Amino acid sequence: MPLTGTGAIVATAARAGHGVGAFNVIQLEHAQAIIAGAEQAGAPVVLQISENAARYHGALAPIAKASLAEAERATVAVSVHLDHATSTELVREAVDLGFGSVMFDASAKDYEDNLAATADVVARCHAAGCWVEAELGEVGGKDGVHAPGARTDPAEAAAFVAATGVDALAVAVGTSHAMLTRDASLDFDLIAALRAAVPVPLVLHGSSGVADEDLTAAVQHGMTKVNIATHLNHVFTTAVRDALTADMRLVDTRRYLGPARAATAEEVARLLRILNALNASQSHPDRK
Ligand code: G3H
Ligand code: ZN
Repeated sequence: MPLTGTGAIVATAARAGHGVGAFNVIQLEHAQAIIAGAEQAGAPVVLQISENAARYHGALAPIAKASLAEAERATVAVSVHLDHATSTELVREAVDLGFGSVMFDASAKDYEDNLAATADVVARCHAAGCWVEAELGEVGGKDGVHAPGARTDPAEAAAFVAATGVDALAVAVGTSHAMLTRDASLDFDLIAALRAAVPVPLVLHGSSGVADEDLTAAVQHGMTKVNIATHLNHVFTTAVRDALTADMRLVDTRRYLGPARAATAEEVARLLRILNALNASQSHPDRK
């Protein structure tokens, strides 16, 4: 299946009232696990690469090209998305590499500066056919500097979308980035109010801290794109740790990364079934 745009995946899900799983890629094995999980569930998926992940690799292109190549050989719809970009240069590079979507994150700026910077990026990206997600109301916990109590105001969100022309909006509704426990307390009334006020799909960041039943409820109240990173790293790293602990003589990296990739794929499939309201024997309606 050819590489798909995040915009098309998200629009289809929003119409159907489903969620879209957007999972972060750091190593090649993440991309492979996320796609394998999507194929197990028969659901579309978003591979996202953050500015921090690009910085870790020293450049965006190597991990991006590997992810794009994996997406192109998938049997389900897969998009490749730039996550939490604060650099307009990185946004431009992603567009040039063939990303169909980016998240431009100017949420650390005050409202007027966020609006102006985002509107500029949207104009440039739209001219290149690229879909843009932005953020309003800091999603708590990122880099330890955002308050977990941050909330997005629905009227301000509607005005922000109208003024910038963004295609999707990340909102603060009670999640916090990088949680290791799944006990975040979501404000479902606020999600519903944002859904009613904002004409574009809503994005839930920091979803690692959200319990299974609250992921379902978040989608039912109006969330569409659901970003999960830390939870998958937890699954991945636990499998690596188990494999290394079980055999102190193990040195072949494939012997511990392989089980970690398989465990992560299982968890991606499980999460995608929750987000797409599928039971274990069903596949996604788009595949019938
Ligand atoms: O943009 C990515 C996410 O918001 C992931 O957050 O690591 O808390 O799941 P998380
Ligand atoms: Zn995020």
